[in-house]
Parts: sequence; C-alpha cells; structure tokens
Amino acid sequence: MFQSLEFPKEALIGKGWRSLPRRFPVVSPATGEAVVEVADCGSEEAAEALEEAVAAQRAWSQATAYERAGVLRRWHDLILAHEEPLARLMALEMGKPLKEARGEVRYAAGFVEWYAEEAKRVYGETLPSQFPHKRILVRYEPVGPVYGITPWNFPAAMVTRKVAPALAAGNSFVLKPAEESPLTALYLARLFLEAGGPPGVFQVLPTSDPEALSRPFLEDERVRKLTFTGSTPVGLKLYGEAAKTLKRVSLELGGGAPVLVFADADLERAVAETVRAKFRNVGQSCVAANLILVEEPVAEAFAEAYAERVKALKVGDPLLEETDIGPLVNRAALEKVEGHVQDALARGASLVAGGEAKGLYFAPTVLLDVRPGSRIFREETFGPVAPIATFQNEEEAVARANALPSGLAAYLFTRNLSRAFRVAEALDYGIVGVNDGVPSTPQAPFGGVRRSGLGREGGRWGLEEYLEVKYISLGL
Ligand code: SIN
Repeated sequence: MFQSLEFPKEALIGKGWRSLPRRFPVVSPATGEAVVEVADCGSEEAAEALEEAVAAQRAWSQATAYERAGVLRRWHDLILAHEEPLARLMALEMGKPLKEARGEVRYAAGFVEWYAEEAKRVYGETLPSQFPHKRILVRYEPVGPVYGITPWNFPAAMVTRKVAPALAAGNSFVLKPAEESPLTALYLARLFLEAGGPPGVFQVLPTSDPEALSRPFLEDERVRKLTFTGSTPVGLKLYGEAAKTLKRVSLELGGGAPVLVFADADLERAVAETVRAKFRNVGQSCVAANLILVEEPVAEAFAEAYAERVKALKVGDPLLEETDIGPLVNRAALEKVEGHVQDALARGASLVAGGEAKGLYFAPTVLLDVRPGSRIFREETFGPVAPIATFQNEEEAVARANALPSGLAAYLFTRNLSRAFRVAEALDYGIVGVNDGVPSTPQAPFGGVRRSGLGREGGRWGLEEYLEVKYISLGL
C-alpha cells in the first residue's frame, strides 16, 4: 500500500525542497521498521530558514487579508482532498488507527477553514478621546516571525492549529515537527505550496537534534513568537529560553485529566464518553482521561459496563479499518505505561481488563480500587490504561481533581444542571467537558492553567496569540 504513496522527505526551506546528505529514519511503531529517511536539518539550515522567514514576513504581512484567506481556503480544500494519504501517513509514522487518523485530518482542516474565515475579521478599533482634536486608533498587526514545535501525537491537527492562525494574522512560520512524525507535516507543507502559499512563509525543518535546531530561533531577537505543544519539563525550559529575547509564547503542556462521574449521571453515556476520553489515540492525548473517579453508589455498575466496552476494543494494525487501538509510539511510552500498571497493582489495585503487552501494543486496560498514592494518580500515563477509584461526595471529588498538578482538561458527568454548572466552575482547568468526552473543536479555546501551560489555541483566542496591538494617536 505504502509503496505507492508519494510523500515529501526533504526539508522545506525558503524557496523550495532541500535535499540533505544527513538523514534520519522515521520508524513505524507497528512494525519497528524504518519507513523512510528524511532530511536531518541542523543549525546551518535553521539560520537560513530564519533569514527566509524574516524576509517572507514582510511581504506576507502586506498581502491583503483576502489574499491570505484565499490561500488558507485553498489549503483547507486540498487537505480534505488528501484525507486518505494523510491518514495513512499518520498510521504509518506514529501508529494512529486509520479511522481516527481520518478524523484527525478533518479536525486539522477545520482549523484552516476557521482561520481562513477569521483572517478577514481582524478588525481595528477607534476609541473616544477626551480632546476634540484627537482620534485614538487601535490596529492589530502580526506579531512577527513565529517558531513552532509540534508533537507526534496529533501530527496534522497540532500543525494547523498553530500555523493557520499565525498565517491568517500575517506571520511567517518555521515549523520543527516531532522526530517521530515529520512526514505528515511535510505533506501539509506540500499542499500549502500547491494552494499558492508563497515560498518562505511556511517552512518545515525536520531534525533528529531539536535542541541544536531550535537554538538560533530562540536566541534571535527577530523571532517574536514561540509556540510549543509537548511536555511540561520541555515547555518550562523553552519558556526560560524565550524570555531572554522577550518573545511572546504559547505553551500547550501536559494534561492528566480527571473524570468525575456522579451518581445522578446517565451511566450509559458516561461510560461511552469516558471510553472516548480515555482511549482516543490509544490514550496518547494531552486531554486524555487519566483518572476516573466514580461516586460510590454507582461505582460497581459503572466499572462493569466500562470494562465490557473496553474489552470490545479491537487491538491491531493501525492500517486496518477495524482497529481501535494501535501501538504506542515507542519503547519509552510502553515502559511508562507498564510501570504505572505494575505500581498500581503492587499497591493493591485489581486488574479487570487488559494488562498485557506485545511489541509496542498494550492491551486496553482497566484497573479498579486504585490507591491514592499510586503513580498513575500523580503522573500522566499517556497510554491505554483507565484507573477507576471512588469518591463519597461532590466536595471530595472537586478537591481531588483540583489537587492534581496539571490543569488542562477535566470531565464531569451528571444530569443535574445546578451541579453541572457548580462543578464546572469550581474545577481549576482550562477545559471542562460536561457529559462530553471529546470537547476539542476548532472554534473553541484549547489550553490549560497551572502546569498545563500558557495561552489558547483555536477560535478567536488562537488568532489573538499571533497579533500585536498598536495604538495610533491622531491629532487633527
Ligand atoms: C493534544 O493532545 O495536545 C491535543 C488533543 C486535542 O486537540 O484534542
């Protein structure tokens, strides 16, 4: 199947594709085999791309909003027209099951569509002055060249969620895709050029040495914005580096979401949505359910129905239509998942589904009676393991959720409207899904509080991250 799939393997720098003698392998987690070797960029290519980005920014920021919107609209259409190769590429390079990968292509295209429309709505403002001879004008201008670092778990949507608003606002963008999944990003860049995107406006530099590649962008005063999705430790480091040149930053960092299931919930729906919240992308999502807390009176019924559904999930080759659960991305991911399960079992939890590994595949797993001190309660598992524990009342549930270190997403299930508002407002999280296991969508603000980062992506908030405010005082 893949022998016939054409995809770019070179870096996109300045005016076009750059073939480099240095290469690194992209390894399929499903087979352990190298899919292809891609161009391995270093500091020399970074320095060149930086100059190109600065030059491209000038012209692109002066294009009309309608011209920018037109490019984004055509890019959107091309992404949708290439849903199948993009989905297959994702399945191949990072193991996302095909049917989910198709969904991600549509999700990714949704950001491009949204910002194609928003590009035309970057309105200025006029403010009343206290002086009759003065006028006060506020303009929104592009922030400046942007450097972006995207993760492997959503190789298409995390690219478009950053690139589309940055470009809509009139910025150039240099992307460093994850080492595990550069092919999807390069394919998106190819479609951007086909859509009439000017060379240099969007550049993609794959690398096996992220630190060396990032350094020139972090150190250069002319790069005015850093956007990153990834782990909290790396985000903290980048934040410190970006501070030295006072760059604007958006950091979408670790999650570890709690789910609160109240006794008054629609149990069937709570089970179905919590399965989605946990097992989407094999649990490898920042908003994945990490800890499921169920109110004592319904805990047994919930756990039984949950385990039944989890046992029905199909583990297998990500390229097969029926697969629900593909492999984990690499050995480190597998070892973390295994470590969490072993630790929980050693502390007294019981295993009601899954628990076994084969290659990089880890069977979808359900643990009951997980004890409070367990690692799985404190750390983000990023894998297909659902730990279930109980709570006695609303106050305890909210307190336990808010005691977790991250603040990206939380979920709650109830049919009581007052409780839905009360708990959603009390949860110290950037996103709250009420009776909804997958709240992510292009028009809404995605982002977290506390150790989950800074800034928002999606909707008008995502565009504001790439705009600078200018005030013009006009004396008549
Ligand atoms: C992420 O895991 O960072 C993104 C998940 C999403 O957009 O829903």
